[in-house]
Amino acid sequence: MIRLQQLCKRYQLGDEPVQALDHVDLRINAGEYLSVMGPSGSGKSTLLNMLGLLDQPDSGEYWLDELEMTALSEEGRAAERNRRIGFVFQAYHLIDRLSARENIELPLVLNGTTPSERRPRVNELLQRLGLERHAEHLPHQLSGGQRQRVAIARAVIRKPQLLLADEPTGNLDSHSGNDVIELLEELNAEGITLVMVTHDAAMGRRARRRLWMQDGQLLKDEQDAHA
Ligand SMILES: Nc1ncnc2c1ncn2[C@@H]1O[C@H](COP(=O)(O)OP(=O)(O)O)[C@@H](O)[C@H]1O
Ligand SMILES: [Mg+2]
Repeated sequence: MIRLQQLCKRYQLGDEPVQALDHVDLRINAGEYLSVMGPSGSGKSTLLNMLGLLDQPDSGEYWLDELEMTALSEEGRAAERNRRIGFVFQAYHLIDRLSARENIELPLVLNGTTPSERRPRVNELLQRLGLERHAEHLPHQLSGGQRQRVAIARAVIRKPQLLLADEPTGNLDSHSGNDVIELLEELNAEGITLVMVTHDAAMGRRARRRLWMQDGQLLKDEQDAHA
């Protein structure tokens, strides 16, 4: 499903160039569950942003389902991102003045889904994530774990094939963090491909395939044997 070939990204940090991605080769099959680990600054977020089409590499190729993403225009990439990819961030990135329901619904509003089609899909997700009682609450009225569940619902409302999560439990206590991971794993069990950046080794070990990064390179790619 995904093929990265010799992907490179360099940032300028003051007058120091930083090689955030250094010739990364990676293949990911549909339905896989990967964690990405490594020290701070090793390029984990940069890798995820590339996969999520939030950023462009300097060189190399990114193939997603036989489409070369790096060859597309800005609009083309945005369209593919909206259609195929959901993104979950450590800091939730919800819209403060919209309710939980409206945050979840937003991607459907933006792609022109009619209100009568939107309602049942949003209600189903609210129920599934145990958020019905919080549907009309604003983000600041929700706990961290609830906010992250709203963010996950928003990320999957358009049924993407790829779900990317960058330290999704980084701001949560271990109990709500565990709930969030279980939700992500449930979605993966239903077929979505899941790539999760984490600095929590115990969480990272739950993934069937684990990548370690250092200095922009893939250091290790470890996979459980098939049961
Ligand atoms: N927008 C940016 N501008 C300048 N440097 C950046 C930017 N994003 C990332 N970097 C640098 O690239 C390197 C990798 O960053 P990042 O991918 O965020 O690492 P990680 O997520 O593993 O902590 C770091 O040295 C970081 O400072
Ligand atoms: Mg990061």
